[in-house]
Amino acid sequence: MRGVPRRVVKSILESKYLVALTGAGVSAESGVPTFRGKDGLWEKYRPEELATPEAFEKDPRKVWEWYRWRMEIISKAKPNLAHYSLAELEGRGTLKCLITQNVDGLHRRAGSKRVIELHGSIWRVRCVRCGYRADVEEPPEELPPVCPNCGSPLRPDVVWFGEPIPRGAWEGALEEVSKSDVLLVIGTSGTVVPAALIPRMASERGVTVIEVNPEDTPITKISTFKVSSTAVEFFRRFKLMCKSDFTFSSNRL
Ligand code: OAD
Ligand code: ZN
Repeated sequence: MRGVPRRVVKSILESKYLVALTGAGVSAESGVPTFRGKDGLWEKYRPEELATPEAFEKDPRKVWEWYRWRMEIISKAKPNLAHYSLAELEGRGTLKCLITQNVDGLHRRAGSKRVIELHGSIWRVRCVRCGYRADVEEPPEELPPVCPNCGSPLRPDVVWFGEPIPRGAWEGALEEVSKSDVLLVIGTSGTVVPAALIPRMASERGVTVIEVNPEDTPITKISTFKVSSTAVEFFRRFKLMCKSDFTFSSNRL
């Protein structure tokens, strides 16, 4: 990739209500494995054995072992330039909301505040029976961890296949998209609904959709601009362009 097209930089900097949608690809350069693609998790593991309520009912320990392994990877990972740049864009008032499918918490660790976590968080547990919820800072030692209220198993507070996105998160995301004029979509395969419907809905409303992904996806066809680049490379070049070209007000990033 030679650079980020000027029109893309301009759309972002001149947006009135910029919203971002991120997926596993934004954390790939932090060393967190994605789900699909060559080294994706779903190449090695079967989602129905690990990421469904039925799998948890059948073998909570097995499901937890997989989540504990992922928690260990994520706890060693650090936010990358893409996470930090998105937080910076929010801090400077350009980015109004960040919708993510990721459960790794790296956006918040980078300083993003207005984050909607569509698929929950790996850093929260929830009781399967009484609804008790708690934040966790480290992977649990005892598997499965048990609820201090009722003694039932605690599960990761994430959205599994076959489960709906929590209502508040979904409604919040729709509201943000309805206010947006530019949607920046980074590192998602666009294959998991309903999250994958967001770029489509935006495009139908006439929103400028910018896709950043080294590969083409179903979102590519409906995007206004496609940048074939990794998330980190995109922001490296974006920032360079903001600095080098005096027509872009450099104090906005
Ligand atoms: P996927 O793993 O499906 O897709 C990752 C996307 O990131 C692919 O399109 C890659 O081309 C792209 N990618 C890889 N490296 C990248 C990089 N360095 N920079 C930018 N893009 C890169 O991840 P998601 O679309 O997030 O759900 O997956 C959606 C959901 O499917 C996940 O939230 C998870 C999964 O099953 C649940 O667990 C409910
Ligand atoms: Zn309980």
